[in-house]
Amino acid sequence: MRIIIEKDYQDIGKTANTFMRELLINNPNATLGLATGSSPVGLYKEMIADNKAGITTFKNIKTVNLDEYVGLPEGHDQTYRYFMNDNLFNHIDIDKNNTRVPNGMAENLENACKEYTDYVAKNIPDIQILGIGSNGHIAFNEPGTPFDAHTHIVTLKEGTRQDNARFFSSIDEVPTHAITMGIADIMQAKMIILVANGIGKSKAIYDMAKGPVTTDCPASILQSHPNVVVIVDESAGYLLK
Ligand code: F6R
Repeated sequence: MRIIIEKDYQDIGKTANTFMRELLINNPNATLGLATGSSPVGLYKEMIADNKAGITTFKNIKTVNLDEYVGLPEGHDQTYRYFMNDNLFNHIDIDKNNTRVPNGMAENLENACKEYTDYVAKNIPDIQILGIGSNGHIAFNEPGTPFDAHTHIVTLKEGTRQDNARFFSSIDEVPTHAITMGIADIMQAKMIILVANGIGKSKAIYDMAKGPVTTDCPASILQSHPNVVVIVDESAGYLLK
């Protein structure tokens, strides 16, 4: 695991983008694994700027996203599909038919999970982008999730629903379930770039990089992946010094 400590959020995005740019230039048919949340937005801004400057093209790029809420209607502004369109896909020359986000409105969610697992196995990301939760979660794999899990449905913890209630008009509107890639799916990626900023992530970053490999900190499994780059700001990385 290579750890890069940057000055601030903007530099995290710029540094993460150097790896992304190299891949996009060398492999215009690459598959990207993407995440939502605030951590990767700076990287997405850099990717948009490169695309607008003609340095990269996404015409033949495929993407797979980590997760999605269950039960939010198509077009809802809190779906992760909406987030990806709004923060990246609407601003680059990608064909949206080549972008996948788990289907949280599928009639048969078990089948949707199986299909997603199969799709990822056939389209293994060249780079997987990850954020990390303050409890060490990756995607919606909360502490306790087995490392061999594939795409599955999770019941959202009450705390997570309360944290997210600010994005909805009331807590009752916050979904109770989500669909997420499992850790076994994520670990297939050829390269993983995890980005994190802020003091609230410092313990999770320490446990991930220096703690025991345990499902108590789902991200600790990344210690056993051969090609991981962790890019953090000084606050998120301060326990590593
Ligand atoms: C998002 C995801 C989550 C976030 C994590 C950090 O697709 O899977 O695991 O990466 O919750 O979120 P932020 O970046 O908002 O702090």
